[in-house]
Amino acid sequence: MGRAKITIVGAGNVGATTAHWCAAAELGDIVLLDIPATKNMPAGKALDLMQASPIVGFDSNIVGSTDYADTANSDVVVITAGIPRKPGMSRDDLLATNAKIVASVSEQIKSTSPNAVVIVVSNPLDAMVQQCLVSTGFPKARVLGQAGVLDTARYRTFLAMELGVSVEDVSALLMGGHGDTMVPMPSCTTIGGIPVRRLLSEDKLEAIVDRTRKGGAEIVGLLETGSAYYAPAAATTQMVEAIVKDKKRLLPAAAYCDKEYGVGGFYVGVPVILGAGGVEKIIELELDAQEQADFQKSVDAVKGLVETMTKLMAG
Ligand code: NAI
Ligand code: 2OP
Repeated sequence: MGRAKITIVGAGNVGATTAHWCAAAELGDIVLLDIPATKNMPAGKALDLMQASPIVGFDSNIVGSTDYADTANSDVVVITAGIPRKPGMSRDDLLATNAKIVASVSEQIKSTSPNAVVIVVSNPLDAMVQQCLVSTGFPKARVLGQAGVLDTARYRTFLAMELGVSVEDVSALLMGGHGDTMVPMPSCTTIGGIPVRRLLSEDKLEAIVDRTRKGGAEIVGLLETGSAYYAPAAATTQMVEAIVKDKKRLLPAAAYCDKEYGVGGFYVGVPVILGAGGVEKIIELELDAQEQADFQKSVDAVKGLVETMTKLMAG
């Protein structure tokens, strides 16, 4: 069996770091693609990464390109193309610029890699995945977005820091959109199998939930010149791995929900089974009244974003 072919569109911070993690995990051959204006930058990063392979010990062909012909017949395409947040900018401020970028990238993927599973990372995430679905016309299972793995990782990190335990023992779920309305789920959070509420007071838990919701902005505030990329890239790599190894991971991802959770045809973060076919199943949980209200608020925020985007793209 040949190696999987993984294309990463956008060779900036998140794209190049995703290539790094994917190569180190030997997930397949990698094409790192950017716009022609970046000239040989993608080729330079790809060659540099290839030259790490004898040291780190991975076999992966990594090429950088500005030509979609090199991406032909990819198994997985990751879209990180777009502009990131600057201090004071919300993810939504990115809407107009990134929707056009994601639309044009998606149209190229449609013709060059018609059978790919596409993971969108560009922000504002939930709207960008919707744009990708529209522009590729791919089946819904093959178009999804990365947000929940990252947001859950932030939540798990903060919990491990507070409790002084290994991050490996913190298991958690988070639902909703990739924005300030995201819904960390203490009812689905365990520490070594122990429900988190048996170990942490409501006040401490609420403070961690709040820090998680603002997790992206906290990094933007520290970096000042862009947004997070190590953890976003690690999260994306975990999703690529689930697909290329058909692992059937149960992870939170932005998936197209119609009847599911009564969402009505939008992308929003929900627990899914992720395997070779992309989103192979959406897990529907019964939410308590507070979770349902918080989730609905988040869905409404996503709907507003998609409506604005649809108008912008039509006009
Ligand atoms: P960056 O500025 O470092 O890289 C973006 C790259 O996209 C640049 O190299 C740029 O030349 C390229 N690009 C622009 N238009 C393109 C096009 N039409 N085709 C191909 N490439 C194109 O930005 P960074 O930090 O890598 O972030 C990328 C995106 O990911 C941003 O929208 C950011 O907000 C988002 N993001 C999303 C996260 C998530 O959890 N969903 C987490 C972190 C970032
Ligand atoms: C993040 O959450 C900016 O969406 C990006 O870090």
